[in-house]
Amino acid sequence: MFSLVPISFLTLGVLPSLSQAKGTTDWKQKCEAFTSLPAIPESINASLTKVDYYPAGALFNETDPNTSLESTSFKAFCRVQINITTSNTTSAVSEIWLPDSWSGIFWGTGNGASGGGLNWGDLGYVAVNHGFAGHATNGGHSSNGSSAVAFENPETLTDWDYRAMHQGTVAGKAITAKYYGKNTFHSYYGACSAGGRQGWIEAERFPEDYDSIITGSPAVDDIRHNETWGLVHSEVLRQCDEIDGLKDGILSNPQRCNFRPQAIACRPGQTTGCLTAAQLGVLRYVYEPWVDVNDTYVYAGFPYGAEAGFITGNLLADGGEYGQDGDFFRHAIVHNSSWTVDQIDFALVQRGVEEIGGPNGDSATNPNITAFVARGGKMIHYVGWNDQYLSPFASIRWHDEVDSFMTTNTEYTTTDYYRLFVIPGMKHCGGGEGANFFGQPSVYTADPVSLEPSHNVIFSLFDWHQKGKAPDSFIGTAFRDNNISLGVNYERPICMWPKHTTYNGHGDPMKASSFSCAL
Ligand SMILES: *[C@@H]1O[C@H](CO)[C@@H](O)[C@H](O)[C@H]1NC(C)=O
Ligand SMILES: *[C@@H]1O[C@H](CO)[C@@H](O)[C@H](O)[C@H]1NC(C)=O
Ligand SMILES: *[C@@H]1O[C@H](CO)[C@@H](O)[C@H](O)[C@H]1NC(C)=O
Ligand SMILES: *[C@@H]1O[C@H](CO)[C@@H](O)[C@H](O)[C@H]1NC(C)=O
Ligand SMILES: *[C@@H]1O[C@H](CO)[C@@H](O)[C@H](O)[C@H]1NC(C)=O
Ligand SMILES: *[C@@H]1O[C@H](CO)[C@@H](O)[C@H](O)[C@H]1NC(C)=O
Ligand SMILES: *[C@@H]1O[C@H](CO)[C@@H](O)[C@H](O)[C@H]1NC(C)=O
Ligand SMILES: *[C@@H]1O[C@H](CO)[C@@H](O)[C@H](O)[C@H]1NC(C)=O
Ligand SMILES: *[C@@H]1O[C@H](CO)[C@@H](O)[C@H](O)[C@H]1NC(C)=O
Ligand SMILES: *[C@@H]1O[C@H](CO)[C@@H](O)[C@H](O)[C@H]1NC(C)=O
Ligand SMILES: *[C@@H]1O[C@H](CO)[C@@H](O)[C@H](O)[C@H]1NC(C)=O
Repeated sequence: MFSLVPISFLTLGVLPSLSQAKGTTDWKQKCEAFTSLPAIPESINASLTKVDYYPAGALFNETDPNTSLESTSFKAFCRVQINITTSNTTSAVSEIWLPDSWSGIFWGTGNGASGGGLNWGDLGYVAVNHGFAGHATNGGHSSNGSSAVAFENPETLTDWDYRAMHQGTVAGKAITAKYYGKNTFHSYYGACSAGGRQGWIEAERFPEDYDSIITGSPAVDDIRHNETWGLVHSEVLRQCDEIDGLKDGILSNPQRCNFRPQAIACRPGQTTGCLTAAQLGVLRYVYEPWVDVNDTYVYAGFPYGAEAGFITGNLLADGGEYGQDGDFFRHAIVHNSSWTVDQIDFALVQRGVEEIGGPNGDSATNPNITAFVARGGKMIHYVGWNDQYLSPFASIRWHDEVDSFMTTNTEYTTTDYYRLFVIPGMKHCGGGEGANFFGQPSVYTADPVSLEPSHNVIFSLFDWHQKGKAPDSFIGTAFRDNNISLGVNYERPICMWPKHTTYNGHGDPMKASSFSCAL
């Protein structure tokens, strides 16, 4: 479900070298001679299970068994796999991909939904092809994104929550140091979706693991949808598209849309192209936050425009499963495989938070990132306004919570270390109608679109951490049909929250210079 490769972004080809392989090192020989692990801190119990050399353009074709990747687009690297015993009953697999042309950066990747498996795509396209040594963990189990059955074992849940990522990162850094014979290097992390949650947990619990972090649309929740959303989306656009000054299918600031769904309510005798009373009732659950007993906030509603992505499931038909990952509740909290998500209620959510949520559990709910910030850590957080799985309002709420906690309890100024970017028209982690490409992790391009920090969030993070150049905005690119080989359609700024991409009122709407960032 949180599949990480919008297919249209895949093109064939190999990135040009960022730097030439140094000297005359025989990297194949060096890789094959890597037969023992270095001492790994914290008594992490790892064993070496695989070492393979992949020359540039070699076929990589693996199955995890629940994830798979076939590619010939990677630069040359040494693939190291380790198995970490994490408890009496559990173990986690990590891979560290070590490129021949190393730029001196260690890069951590994350997972998707409940999916236990190795994120080979980010290891290859994002880490190796940019010259970074990459780390990925299977999170302690093998599953597809929608299955949480492994979480019946609480030790597996602990691996997934934080243990596998932390232990794999520590081991991966030791392996990187040994392989290149260099003890100091920058370590950065970037991932989206479940990987966004993992990034926040790293900052909260293990501030020494990464020097700076990019988190995209972070959380663990899930949602189901229906075709009827196409009708709702057309009506949302009819009512609200032009509020931002441009009729372009993108709501630059969905909060200014005051949608009136009654306009598409079924009239007597009408059965198609309209919404029934029951369906209109469901809309309320989708767009309004879930607030329960004693005005307790449970989960964010979705913004107008996000329904553009609500096309594949049964949301309107089944009366509103959204914002909850049913299988996660079934196996990690209720422990009853017959339980169905329509039985969810506030009491169960509260139980989940008490048992496995909270500051020390699964959710990224501890806004105290003081230790990470004290080390000079920078956090870039992004989310699409049209995210169809994880509401951007949940990201905005989280931003405000961190801002409020840190401002109250520390002397730091939030924008000095944490910046949120909410991207008009972008779906979950990428894709959509908007200018949705800015070099983010989990969206793969064999050829780099731009390594300029102004267009590339990864290199912008490096500039911020290493040179103090903080990003106020990025230039996002929209490709024709979201297909890089078809070329650039238009460019537009992506603004730091709470600013919005705003049309200047004149100028070519295909050019970024015709827009500003304004409140
Ligand atoms: C992207 O465009 C190229 C060039 O026209 C085409 O060959 C390819 O099939 C397109 N990819 C997708 C996923 O449509
Ligand atoms: C390390 O893991 C192995 C299993 O792979 C186990 O036999 C051994 O007891 C563990 N060592 C420690 C110190 O826990
Ligand atoms: C990749 O592996 C799959 C499954 O083993 C196989 O069917 C496929 O032919 C392989 N691809 C190539 C290019 O060898
Ligand atoms: C990892 O080691 C454990 C023993 O600690 C073993 O049960 C498991 O099969 C190993 N996994 C892999 C992928 O080698
Ligand atoms: C399981 O591991 C714990 C340490 O984490 C140890 O105290 C305990 O004796 C182990 N149990 C078994 C059955 O090996
Ligand atoms: C993952 O793959 C294993 C081995 O094929 C299989 O037994 C298991 O059911 C799969 N798990 C999920 C959740 O898909
Ligand atoms: C994911 O795995 C579960 C358990 O093995 C299976 O029931 C489900 O059909 C799988 N879903 C997909 C999309 O493969
Ligand atoms: C709601 O508030 C009342 C009064 O403070 C309290 O007695 C009750 O336990 C609360 N209910 C829940 C579910 O927290
Ligand atoms: C939802 O989608 C299913 C097919 O996926 C369809 O059978 C059903 O009629 C749709 N419901 C509505 C309300 O459109
Ligand atoms: C499991 O859930 C089913 C369906 O709600 C219910 O009938 C059954 O009693 C539950 N089992 C237990 C042990 O609670
Ligand atoms: C925040 O975390 C730091 C340690 O990282 C701790 O020293 C401090 O007391 C915490 N602040 C609050 C208000 O809990």
